Amino acid sequence: MSSERKDEHVRLAEELHDESRRGGFDDVRFLHRSFPGLAVADVSTGTRIAGRDWTAPFYINAMTGGSERTGRLNAQLARAAAEAGVAIASGSVSAALREPALEPTFRVIREQAPEAFVLANVSPEATPEQARHAVALLSADALQIHVNVAQELVMPEGDRDFTGWLDRIAAIVAASDVPVVVKEVGFGLGREAVTALVEHGVTAVDVSGRGGTDFIAIENHRRLRSEYGYLTGWGQTAVECLLDVLHRAPEHGGPVEGVTVLASGGVRTPLDVLRALALGARAVGVSGHFLHVLVSSGLEALIAELVSWRQQLRTLFALVGARDLAALQEADLLVTGPTGEFARLRGID
Ligand code: FNR
Repeated sequence: MSSERKDEHVRLAEELHDESRRGGFDDVRFLHRSFPGLAVADVSTGTRIAGRDWTAPFYINAMTGGSERTGRLNAQLARAAAEAGVAIASGSVSAALREPALEPTFRVIREQAPEAFVLANVSPEATPEQARHAVALLSADALQIHVNVAQELVMPEGDRDFTGWLDRIAAIVAASDVPVVVKEVGFGLGREAVTALVEHGVTAVDVSGRGGTDFIAIENHRRLRSEYGYLTGWGQTAVECLLDVLHRAPEHGGPVEGVTVLASGGVRTPLDVLRALALGARAVGVSGHFLHVLVSSGLEALIAELVSWRQQLRTLFALVGARDLAALQEADLLVTGPTGEFARLRGID
């Protein structure tokens, strides 16, 4: 059942993939600079995550594993990550924690990307021991814990009891030998959630907002009767989350302190990566778009895409006059449209 679900998630993510959907990134505009005053060769797009230097500020975010087909996809995603020098996260290892025969469909990531920065992924339902096992399985450099209440609730077989998740996350963090990133799955970690996570010992989050892969839409399409179709589009965008967590005016609480913020959800182009970085993300995750390139055009096309994104980002940094990430985060931005309205309502500078 669980293997079948993994295959269906990939099939439907691809079938429903739609890059024309509004995810908030289009509301963020840079002011053009005719005299940026630097050379492309001067630009460094590197970042530092979990105590390690990344040469690329974007990564292949959590997707899959747990079935024969998704094991093959993991192998290809990992090959591409290794070739292009980007980090990669596995999909939820929960299935293999229940059924050890599925472990090779995750282990393949480390086999194909021996040098890459790899993140293992578990749910808050994992025990600290299971989380450590997931990290060991992939020789992972970091651990992601995904929170997916909206997805669970629309799945007939999903969890119904979310009491204790923050305490469970705190226990995993306390027992983990590697840095932990708590992430949403496309509905957006809001300011209140990030604040609560920090209070529970979490030091890194991926806000993973709406606008790209939509698990309510995916779960609805898995069934003949899609009761919750009207919930499609639920949640906050990555841009809204970044603004709310990092850009509140001092009189409205200021930025949430003590947490490294990553962003994902609806990232379609290197310009979206640039926008998220400029809003304070330390790195940017991409799932649906890279899966789409792999499934529709193959492994070589995905490698070419990743390499091209790295090059394009250097160009874009130069375009806005930013020598590095710190300079980019000083760039002048205009926030318009529905995101501008959100910012006004939430007391954002
Ligand atoms: C996901 N995502 C995901 N996230 C997670 O933490 N654990 C998981 O197992 C999965 N599984 C999964 C399968 C597939 C097929 C996709 C496309 C995505 C969610 C993913 O990491 C990300 O948070 C969202 O997809 C939003 O990013 P994009 O797809 O809009 O770039």
